[in-house]
Amino acid sequence: MNYKASRGTRDIFGANALGMSLLEQKSKEIFRKHGFEEVRTPIFEDASLFMRSIGQVTDIVEKEMYIFEDKGGRKLALRPEGTASLARAFVEHRMGVSNPAGKFFYVGEMFRYERPQAGRYRQFHQIGAEFYDSSSPAADAEIIILAQDLLACIGISEIKVHINSLGCQKCRPLFKEALIKYFASVGDLCQDCIRRLDKNPLRVLDCKADSCKFTDAPQMTDYLCDDCSGKFDMVRSLLKSAGCNCVVDGKLVRGLDYYTRTVFEIRSDAVGSQDALAAGGRYDNLVKEIGGQSTPAVGFALGSQRALLAAQNTDFFNNLSSPEKIFVAIADQELFNDAFAFAIKVTRNGLKDNRPLA
Ligand code: HAM
Repeated sequence: MNYKASRGTRDIFGANALGMSLLEQKSKEIFRKHGFEEVRTPIFEDASLFMRSIGQVTDIVEKEMYIFEDKGGRKLALRPEGTASLARAFVEHRMGVSNPAGKFFYVGEMFRYERPQAGRYRQFHQIGAEFYDSSSPAADAEIIILAQDLLACIGISEIKVHINSLGCQKCRPLFKEALIKYFASVGDLCQDCIRRLDKNPLRVLDCKADSCKFTDAPQMTDYLCDDCSGKFDMVRSLLKSAGCNCVVDGKLVRGLDYYTRTVFEIRSDAVGSQDALAAGGRYDNLVKEIGGQSTPAVGFALGSQRALLAAQNTDFFNNLSSPEKIFVAIADQELFNDAFAFAIKVTRNGLKDNRPLA
């Protein structure tokens, strides 16, 4: 019998493995420069942690989690994302005490049972950061710029930053009410939307089957309270002064329920329909909801495979298939041996003459 990698999973080797190592290495350097400390959480957790954090009426929890029972009868899940795990670790180890700056990052595999296609896998890698205990719009802006910097480090600059505010517990109920009225006027919704309308009308906006019908849907930005509106203006103005031209996108609601106020996605035209290379936002209630003290937070995660797909035609990637340039591209000692082995292989297989590598 011939075995193949399971559907939605990929072996990563050659230029892709080197590209991923470089992206992770460069990201770690950038994070450390910004004062972020690394955390490695387990690959599986109590399934209820994700159900509670991400939200019962979301695609991830309803359809995409890898859930299993261990021999002790515990219901566990392979992590579908890193934010809930890090929040759990933050509370469990009182990490706010040991790291009062509240800045953490993680790198690792995530698992979602999604329909595989280019840029969408069942096992994929994320590089993410979470910034706890700051409700300042400056923290939101820092997180968005950081995500942009990570992409820039592998040569991706042709991006669009989509941003929205989902408001707070005070103003979001008014928006939800307006949405429910609006969806009733649209009629003819799919079964998923009808089911979600009551429990989570925001998810309806995101529906793959129906969203094209919602051309004149209410926008959250029209319902923001003064506080949320002032903070949203401040985030955009800070981004603008940092040279980041974001687009306000009233349809951006994100697929996870923990968000409050700022949400964003960084998209690229260089990849297909799975165009979000990185995404995130503010989640001021999550830490308290899972048993910690009230702690505002904001973060993002970048999909490594998607970022590398978008980088395919950049100098960064081209350099990875050119042995001479690998030496210029990689000054890092830790990666040097990998790069050297890879360069020799490319030379043996690819170059006609036997020019010395160094
Ligand atoms: P997310 O939007 O679900 O957010 O995922 C973030 C990024 O991970 C996406 O923009 C995409 O690049 C990548 N990604 C997601 N699913 C897949 C997949 N099936 N295959 C390949 N890449 C994928 C989160 O995960 C939040 N935890 C982000 C966050 C951090 N919010 C606050 N802090």
